[in-house]
Amino acid sequence: RYFSSQLQSEQKRRSSFGIAFDIDGVLLRGKDPIGGSPQALRRLYGDSGNLNVPFLFLTNGGGIPESRRANELSELLGVKIVPSQVLQGHSSFKSLLKRYENQLIVATGKGEPAVVMSEYGFKKAVSLEEYASCFENIDPLAPYKMWTTKLGLDRSSPPLNTVPRYDVSSETVKAVFVISDPVDWGRDIQVLCDVLRCGGLPGQDNGHQPQPPLYFAADDLEYQAAFPSNRLGTGAFRIALESVFNRIHYNPLEYVSFGKPNPFVFKNAEAMLKQLQPSYHSDYFKEPGDSGSQSFKTLYMIGDNPSVDVKGAQQAGHPWFSILTRTGVFRGKHNHAEFPADLVVDTVEEAVDYILGREC
Ligand code: G3P
Ligand code: MG
Repeated sequence: RYFSSQLQSEQKRRSSFGIAFDIDGVLLRGKDPIGGSPQALRRLYGDSGNLNVPFLFLTNGGGIPESRRANELSELLGVKIVPSQVLQGHSSFKSLLKRYENQLIVATGKGEPAVVMSEYGFKKAVSLEEYASCFENIDPLAPYKMWTTKLGLDRSSPPLNTVPRYDVSSETVKAVFVISDPVDWGRDIQVLCDVLRCGGLPGQDNGHQPQPPLYFAADDLEYQAAFPSNRLGTGAFRIALESVFNRIHYNPLEYVSFGKPNPFVFKNAEAMLKQLQPSYHSDYFKEPGDSGSQSFKTLYMIGDNPSVDVKGAQQAGHPWFSILTRTGVFRGKHNHAEFPADLVVDTVEEAVDYILGREC
C-alpha cells in the first residue's frame, strides 16, 4: 500500500507540468539577466541541485552549438544547464540531416554557422564567408569594408582561416541555411541571390534552373537585445532578401522558416521536456509498458513576443499555456490584441511565481 501511494504521488508529480523559457527579452537583454531570471530559475532546482521542474530554453536565437550555449547560459544565469535543455532556432535543422548529410550546403548567420551544421552531422557544410571567398570579385564592395581591411585582410584573396575545406566553386549548392542573424547583409543578399537564381552555381547562366531549398532558423521581424528599442531580426533579413530576389528573378523566392511559431518546434520541446522529467531515468517508478515519461497536464511558454511566442503556443494547442512578460518586445499595459496570452505579467520571476503557486 505504501508503495502504491508513493507511486501515485510520484506519477502525479512527474506528469503535471513543464516550462519553456524564451531567452531574449525574458531572461536576458544582451548578456545581462533581467526580470529576476537567476532567482526564478533557481526555484526550479531542489536543495541538492537536482532539477525539480522540467524546463528548457526555447529561443529563436543561435549561432553556436547547443553545448556551448548551455555553458554560456549556466554562467550568465548561475544554474547548471545541460545541452538537452537548449533548443535554438537552428536545432530543428537536425531533422533535415538525412536529406543533406553528404551534400554541399551553405550556411550563414552570426557565430559559427558551418560549425553548428557540422556538429549536427552535415558533412559538407560551408559558411557563406568561406563559400564567397572561392569566387573572385563576387562582392564588389568587399574592399570598402573597413572592418575587414582594418584587420589587415586582403579581400581580393581568400580571407585567413576561411579557406574552404572543399573545392566548392564548381559544385552545385544543394541547400542554403540561414542559422541566425546575418552579419553582412549586403554580401549575403548578393551571394544568396547568385546561388539561388543560378540553381546553386553562381556566375553561370544555366538557363532556368530550380531554386535550391532555402531554410531560415527563425523569422522574427524584431527582438529585444541590449539596445533600448527593438532590433531587426532574421525575419527582417528575410524580407530584404525576398524583396530583392523577387525583383531580379522570374519566380518568387521559396523558403521554409523553422523556429517559433512553427508548431514543429513546440512538439520537439514537448518531447525534450518529457526526457527532462525528474524520474525519466528511474526504473523504480516505471510500471510495465511505461516508457518512463507521461503526458503533461500543462506546458508553460514564457515569452516576450506575441507574434512568435504566444502565437506559437496557441497554434500548438493543448497542453500549452502562454505567459507574456513586459520585459522585451511586448510592453503593453493590457493583453496583446491579435495574439492574447493566457496570462500577462511584468517579469519572468512573476511568471514562475504564478506557475509554482498554481502547480505545487
Ligand atoms: O536573434 C534572437 C531573436 O531572434 C529572438 O530570440 O530568445 O527571443 O527567441 P528569443
Ligand atoms: Mg524573446
